Amino acid sequence: MELFLKAKEATIYSYSPYSNFKVGCAIELNDGRFICGTNIENISYGLSMCAERVAIFKALSDGISKNDIKALAVYANTSDFVRPCGACLQVFSELLNKNCKIYLLNKKLESKEVTIEDLLPMGFNSLE
Ligand code: THU
Repeated sequence: MELFLKAKEATIYSYSPYSNFKVGCAIELNDGRFICGTNIENISYGLSMCAERVAIFKALSDGISKNDIKALAVYANTSDFVRPCGACLQVFSELLNKNCKIYLLNKKLESKEVTIEDLLPMGFNSLE
């Protein structure tokens, strides 16, 4: 699937000299376009940003809304399917629609399709 290849290709630009762990994320829009992101680290480690949030923030800041997003795929060169971190899941739960398709990929580009609810059941979502 083109979405999966885009997620892998995104790792080309990973800036991860501290972890040497390259992650790529690709978002497919309903109009057929793709928005990609990769992880960007910093010597002050806590400032590092995951591939998923780079991609979602890129999309939102270009005026793309959650209703324009059809699917998201995350890739890492790992045997098991890569799992987004908790911070990314919290961002997914607010900035992606519930029915957005989420694909977790492994190094062979095999995929596991999940929902946000699978990844973050009972997530924080109300200030009341
Ligand atoms: N990372 C991601 O970009 N996405 C994930 O889903 C997991 C972790 C990044 C953060 C850091 O740059 C490196 O991978 C190691 O944790």
